Amino acid sequence: MHLTKLALVNFRNYAGLVLDLGPGPLLLCGDNAQGKTNLLEAIYFLATTRSTFARAERQVINWQSLEHDALPFARLEAHVQRQNSAFRIDVTLLPDEAGRIHKEMRLNGVKKRALDLVGQLNAVLFIPEDIDLVTGAPAARRRYLDITLCQIEPSYCHALSQYNQTLTQRNALLKQLGERQGSQDQLAFWDEQLAEHGAVLIVSRREAIAALDRLGRERYRVLSNQGETLRLYYAPSFDPEDRPSLDYQRPLLLEELLPSAQASLSVQEVARAYLLRLRQARREEIARGMTLTGPHRDDVHFLVDGVDLTLYGSRGQQRTTALALRFAEVDLMRQTTGESPVLLLDDVMSELDAGRRARVTAMVGDVEQSIVTTTDWDDFTDAFRDRAAGLLQVVDGEVEPV
Ligand SMILES: Nc1ncnc2c1ncn2[C@@H]1O[C@H](COP(=O)(O)OP(=O)(O)OP(=O)(O)O)[C@@H](O)[C@H]1O
Ligand SMILES: [Mg+2]
Repeated sequence: MHLTKLALVNFRNYAGLVLDLGPGPLLLCGDNAQGKTNLLEAIYFLATTRSTFARAERQVINWQSLEHDALPFARLEAHVQRQNSAFRIDVTLLPDEAGRIHKEMRLNGVKKRALDLVGQLNAVLFIPEDIDLVTGAPAARRRYLDITLCQIEPSYCHALSQYNQTLTQRNALLKQLGERQGSQDQLAFWDEQLAEHGAVLIVSRREAIAALDRLGRERYRVLSNQGETLRLYYAPSFDPEDRPSLDYQRPLLLEELLPSAQASLSVQEVARAYLLRLRQARREEIARGMTLTGPHRDDVHFLVDGVDLTLYGSRGQQRTTALALRFAEVDLMRQTTGESPVLLLDDVMSELDAGRRARVTAMVGDVEQSIVTTTDWDDFTDAFRDRAAGLLQVVDGEVEPV
């Protein structure tokens, strides 16, 4: 799929932008603080219905508008061409008097819930901070899985929202029970709910990680060009199949890892195992006032030749892994939806050596539409610039063809 048009009003430093786009790589160049990342953020916002960077949604509304307009707002709109259809998505953000943000989302002018909009436009965003996926805390890896899976499986998005709501309610009840208020009878209901929705997440994550393991391994092999093998392993907070847990503090052998990659329980079977685990943990959970097992505590391990990169990876290995993961995400979306997502690469070249740059350039050329930002045209080879569908210069929230 590809965007044919992007229109922004009062989004970040774009007071008004209308950009016609086509398939192929689009190169966006500008000095620091001109609006390169903001433009990618806008497209990713339309794909995921939220900002990846803002702590509060209000932050994406243009300051001038917030300060001077009687009714400040921000509006984002994209026209999207898929293989067999074309549609328009728009999102409007309006603060009310209390400062709360109202978000209205539409597909072809018809109001939609976020759940129903995610997945219409598929996008993959790479930012230099993605190295945190590898080096950072497990929450970053769960977020990666959630955003990726929500875009390709509406049922995942639904289960995730139900799971999170259930978790909040259940935690509140556990806390009450810990303070010796209320009866334990109510827990049974929340246990069932948690197990039902949690099992959907566990099975989808297991399958996605198995696919990303295959796809990421191939992407890493090409990117690193060093004969190293990247593997991805799902580390669910509890294992429904009760396999022995692995010690990632030391290099692992392939024989040790093989059994952990094999899992086949159905959603119903996982739900049953999860429910059982919740019953076993009940006493401790009440004592601690929170839910201790479940997808909200899952993790993923990245291993190169058996070594856990989160613990022991070199900076270069970690960076290459983050990039390989994003390209694997492109592959996974292509496999599941039959369409190439829009690839957004922010400032990717500056960190790479010449060999990796050339290999990334070749990979970018394979995607139906990509937008790649840089501060320096020389980051791209002449050949790549010649092949690009467009060269754009961004200066202070305005974009002009070069
Ligand atoms: N709500 C807002 N209203 C107006 N301007 C904003 C808003 N939010 C951010 N900005 C400004 O947008 C500018 C451009 O930000 P952006 O991150 O897109 O720059 P960039 O071109 O990616 O720069 P760099 O090369 O440093 O990454 C910044 O100067 C920032 O202060
Ligand atoms: Mg930037």
